[in-house]
Amino acid sequence: MNIKTAKFVVSNQNVNDCPKENIPEYAFIGRSNVGKSSLINMLANNKKLAKTSSKPGKTRLINHFKIDSFWHLVDLPGYGYAKASKTEKKEFQKLITDYFIYRKQLINAFILVDIRHEAQKIDIEFMRWLTTNDIAFSIIFTKIDKLKQNGNPNEGVEFKIEEYKKVLLENWEFLPKIFLTSSVKHIGKENIIGYINSLNQSISQK
Ligand code: GTP
Ligand code: MG
Repeated sequence: MNIKTAKFVVSNQNVNDCPKENIPEYAFIGRSNVGKSSLINMLANNKKLAKTSSKPGKTRLINHFKIDSFWHLVDLPGYGYAKASKTEKKEFQKLITDYFIYRKQLINAFILVDIRHEAQKIDIEFMRWLTTNDIAFSIIFTKIDKLKQNGNPNEGVEFKIEEYKKVLLENWEFLPKIFLTSSVKHIGKENIIGYINSLNQSISQK
């Protein structure tokens, strides 16, 4: 399961200026610094495709990438960047919410969550907002390489996921699709690309 070609198309500040082409689109979103751009680079096998940084707030625009000439992958700015000014936060929020409300080509949003932290209010609220707006989403846990491997069962991947699922089930009747990833160790790529491929196939059969 591999991506053959990934090409940067365009960056925009406004959803109205995004590519008009009617092809399936998948967006990657989550808190600032969670690893969105790194994940996109891992999926595409190209470290230089999306710009990454150890400082939060790197991605500031809606970035479209064309994958295998027939679908779009979108890198978005992170939400909840603590150091942004109030005006900046409002602008980012508008950019993100407008994107999700108006982008008709969007098939699925991937919400990235750092596996090390407990469920954060901002993520759960964002997922609830997506549900209210009828936007399908899946969860991608990032940075699984960073979990301590010290044998303490309360710090392992499975424990973290089970805890997170409990919070999800307080809010939803059904669990969304969940992926485990590490961009550093190249874990999780096949499952995500396989899922996107299966969605693309079901669309083309309609
Ligand atoms: P913004 O664009 O600022 O919202 O951030 P982002 O979500 O795009 O994060 P980005 O991909 O730029 O990564 C942020 C930092 O986390 C960088 O220092 C990455 O090297 C690091 N990082 C991302 N993914 C992983 C991972 O799977 N494992 C580890 N150990 N570090 C990661
Ligand atoms: Mg980024």
